[in-house]
Amino acid sequence: MRLSTTLALSLASYDLTFAAYSFNPLEHLAGIAPYFEPSDPPLDPKPAQGCNVTKASYLIRHAAIYANDFDFEEYIEPFTDKLKNTTVDWSKAGPLRFLSTWKTPISDPELEKLTKVGELEAFQLGVDISLRYPGLKSPKKLWTSTAERTVKSARSFMGGLVERLNETELVEVSEGKEEGADSLTPYKGCAQYSSSAGSKQSSQYEEIYTKPIIERFHNLAPGFNFTADDIVGMQELCGYETVIRGSSPFCDLEVFSPNEWLAFEYKNDIQYHYNTGYGNPVSPVIGFPWLNATAGLLLSDKTDDAQDIYASFTHRELPPTVLVAMGLFNNSAFSGADNINTTMPLNTQNYMRAWRSSQIIPFLTNIAVEKMACESYGFDSGDYFRVVVNQSPQSIPGCSDGPGESCSKAKFENWVKTRGELFGGFSEKCSVEYKNSTDVLSIYTSS
Ligand SMILES: *[C@@H]1O[C@H](CO)[C@@H](O)[C@H](O)[C@H]1NC(C)=O
Ligand SMILES: *[C@@H]1O[C@H](CO)[C@@H](O)[C@H](O)[C@H]1NC(C)=O
Ligand SMILES: *[C@@H]1O[C@H](CO)[C@@H](O)[C@H](O)[C@H]1NC(C)=O
Ligand SMILES: *[C@@H]1O[C@H](CO)[C@@H](O)[C@H](O)[C@H]1NC(C)=O
Ligand SMILES: *[C@@H]1O[C@H](CO)[C@@H](O)[C@H](O)[C@H]1NC(C)=O
Ligand SMILES: *[C@@H]1O[C@H](CO)[C@@H](O)[C@H](O)[C@H]1NC(C)=O
Ligand SMILES: *[C@@H]1O[C@H](CO)[C@@H](O)[C@H](O)[C@H]1NC(C)=O
Ligand SMILES: *[C@@H]1O[C@H](CO)[C@@H](O)[C@H](O)[C@H]1NC(C)=O
Repeated sequence: MRLSTTLALSLASYDLTFAAYSFNPLEHLAGIAPYFEPSDPPLDPKPAQGCNVTKASYLIRHAAIYANDFDFEEYIEPFTDKLKNTTVDWSKAGPLRFLSTWKTPISDPELEKLTKVGELEAFQLGVDISLRYPGLKSPKKLWTSTAERTVKSARSFMGGLVERLNETELVEVSEGKEEGADSLTPYKGCAQYSSSAGSKQSSQYEEIYTKPIIERFHNLAPGFNFTADDIVGMQELCGYETVIRGSSPFCDLEVFSPNEWLAFEYKNDIQYHYNTGYGNPVSPVIGFPWLNATAGLLLSDKTDDAQDIYASFTHRELPPTVLVAMGLFNNSAFSGADNINTTMPLNTQNYMRAWRSSQIIPFLTNIAVEKMACESYGFDSGDYFRVVVNQSPQSIPGCSDGPGESCSKAKFENWVKTRGELFGGFSEKCSVEYKNSTDVLSIYTSS
């Protein structure tokens, strides 16, 4: 599998023969998926007829990195260390024969650093967004949390977005543990959030799905003693090696079948469900302050604002919590029931789930809230709001009375207020232990 970073021109064509089965593992790698735009749901990204975007605010995860500490220490390094020591003759190991010459692309000093592919993709997203809003002012400020990978992503993005780099300031926001809701990493100041939440549940499914893979690999290389974590490490290497070298032999469908990629994805979806998703009651509490601050910016009628476009860079934890605060990708939606954990069984996959981490948090994932001025047939003239995730417009439950699944101003204002009644109260619900916490994200309005 090769990663294509070039813009693909696709001509509309309609092929009436039955298509052959095809499968791209890169779109099933959860938090290690290279950026892609899955068109979920496949609504037209263009604003509806008669609508112009007048303001937009983006929350963006940093772009592709070499590997995060946890994945490296827990899964990848134990596998690659074992590989260095082994006496197995890989040349006789069928689809694993590449291991006789393969060398790891990751070493300690590069951990957590942005890759060149990551830098390029952040730049490209900046270009895409500038093309999306030709009528909007170039932003005076962009925001980022202070980690090197978020700062570098933001700088690269800025290069693609603005004409003159000297006219946009990059505001670095502390990742401290006592910032309350006033940061782009609020989970760090939330005692009710634990970064290991979901490990227990996801390891149950890991054991189930890796068992047949371990036996197959054991048959190919009996001397290696593959473990469940080795399998996870090898699947993670498909993603990391691809964003470092442009391709990876671990992505070959002879090594892991499509079904085995889906199982890897599901293991991760369970983890994120309990970590930053609907399975963690504090998720929407962590995500709400960004939604509230964004609504404040967009609902404002001030026309002399320095900013039409707001963009903020963060880590993988924040975007999914914002989606939960908004009620998007909710497995229980339309079910009339709210028994969310039963929608993610630990012993078998729910293939029809809405919660898919590959689509929610690939590298560079981005959530936008847009304000639009509309004069559209069949709707009152005025301001409407919509949420766009990786270029796909989303229909907000209870807030989609406008053109193109957007939400009228009055409904939007009321919806944000209602979500605040449910999920506001960051300091209290997070059981913060420091005295100077705050429930409000004010980085956009404090100078
Ligand atoms: C590699 O081999 C050395 C020497 O035999 C041993 O000390 C070390 O624990 C081995 N490492 C792994 C990961 O098996
Ligand atoms: C930014 O640089 C351009 C070109 O060098 C210059 O014309 C412009 O005045 C500079 N802007 C600021 C705010 O310094
Ligand atoms: C609370 O105090 C700590 C320590 O002085 C400081 O780092 C932090 O920014 C403060 N938090 C808020 C929300 O002002
Ligand atoms: C194989 O791995 C398991 C689990 O890590 C370990 O308990 C066992 O001793 C290993 N066997 C050999 C032959 O290395
Ligand atoms: C889902 O499971 C988590 C972890 O056990 C628990 O904290 C949460 O309350 C459960 N959610 C619901 C709606 O039962
Ligand atoms: C998810 O959907 C269920 C069923 O409609 C609803 O009861 C629940 O409040 C939703 N969860 C969130 C966080 O919006
Ligand atoms: C949208 O922009 C176009 C082109 O500038 C303009 O003709 C139209 O009146 C605008 N519509 C609204 C509702 O502002
Ligand atoms: C939402 O933000 C406003 C400031 O823009 C603040 O006054 C309000 O308390 C916030 N709502 C909640 C529930 O935190």
